[in-house]
Amino acid sequence: MRFEGAQHVVVENHGANLAEPNEVRKIGRPGPERAWFPRGRCFLASCLPMPPTAQSLAANRYIHPLTIGGLTLENNLCLAPMAGFTNVAFRLIAKEVGGCGLVASEMVAALALPNRGAEGRFKTLTENVPAEKPLAMQVYGRDPEMCAQTARLLDLAGADLIDLNCGCPVRKAKNSGCGVALMREPEQVGRIVAAMCQATAKPVTVKMRLGYDAENRTVMEVAAAAVENGASALFVHARTGESKHGTDVELAPLAEVKRSVRVPVIANGSMDTAEAIRRAKDEAGVDGYQIGRSACGDPWLFRNLIAELTGGQPYAPPLAERRALLVRHFNLIVSLFGEARGTRVMRKYTFFYCNGLPGVRRFRDRFMRIASAGEFTGLVEDFFGQLERGVAEGEAEHLTLFERSTGDGAVADDE
Ligand SMILES: Cc1cc2nc3c(=O)[nH]c(=O)nc-3n(C[C@H](O)[C@H](O)[C@H](O)COP(=O)(O)O)c2cc1C
Repeated sequence: MRFEGAQHVVVENHGANLAEPNEVRKIGRPGPERAWFPRGRCFLASCLPMPPTAQSLAANRYIHPLTIGGLTLENNLCLAPMAGFTNVAFRLIAKEVGGCGLVASEMVAALALPNRGAEGRFKTLTENVPAEKPLAMQVYGRDPEMCAQTARLLDLAGADLIDLNCGCPVRKAKNSGCGVALMREPEQVGRIVAAMCQATAKPVTVKMRLGYDAENRTVMEVAAAAVENGASALFVHARTGESKHGTDVELAPLAEVKRSVRVPVIANGSMDTAEAIRRAKDEAGVDGYQIGRSACGDPWLFRNLIAELTGGQPYAPPLAERRALLVRHFNLIVSLFGEARGTRVMRKYTFFYCNGLPGVRRFRDRFMRIASAGEFTGLVEDFFGQLERGVAEGEAEHLTLFERSTGDGAVADDE
């Protein structure tokens, strides 16, 4: 298989039934190294077992279609927005391989820049392709007018749903009254949501936490303000702004929110097992589930959760598929960021495809030092070649990317 574009890696078909992309589309800034992304159903989607249809899901208690405003999702599993991770390349893979009902962009700061919509960083953050749809894009800010302008730009850039960030707990967000700091200002949330709803006809949603911290649990007030001012759904991370990601989520306040509003409530926070999903439904009555970190570590997660909750068979990707998907991801990332930066950006994703395989730790450590597409090809060949020949050394481990993470990612350096 060969991708368009000089810098792309060539991968042989190592056994999986990997279809050629049937159509490609240019994205990105014009220039000699243009990015090429597929359009329509393509690649690995064609070699995976068919997921259940929307019709067969309709009767399932846990997994079913979900309507948010005028937008109907095929299923109620959503990819959470993650700064630094959920770019178009990763989202496309999550959609193709996982089959989630909704993907989400990284947050986009509501900045008053002239020509904001044409600015390079904005374009990279909002880059999208038809094959990943429907797509949520997220506004990060506190000024109603600027958030509204940004919502309008996101709408024009191709968002199907526009979300407001009321959950980011990093210091920069707290100091500027954005992200989780908005949990202390329900009325301000109402004003922002009202302005955003005026600026776009797409559904507007709010992603919130249970409160700013354990002493300030304002989720009920923020939920009410959001819905009264036009929010079509709430994504609720069932922890407060000071809780670490490893702590248990609290389902009782989630249930209270669900009882108090008439729009869908989507649970977030460690919703990455069938058991967590069953509990969120049975104890809090939520309408959907949003998954962040674990989806980064396992692109097949959504598919397997759907299988487990609908009586299907779990899917264990064969070696050839892991290898092909890793190469595809690399090519997409290089298309988006160029070879030098793309190779660096890819470092954090690479071991996902090798997790649980012998020698994954050594592979990850070596990957952290590569700087070109050529080195990438060599390393992948080496690692998978050894596995195929049965001569791989090292433990079969599961590495975790977010082991030490305590916050909701970082606000991008230049925002
Ligand atoms: C690296 C990273 C970046 C994140 N970026 C965002 C973001 O841009 N917007 C947002 O609303 N939440 C963001 N989050 C929070 C996630 O969307 C999610 O709420 C959180 O990880 C809990 O879900 P999980 O347990 O499934 O990971 C981020 C989380 C991480 C780990």
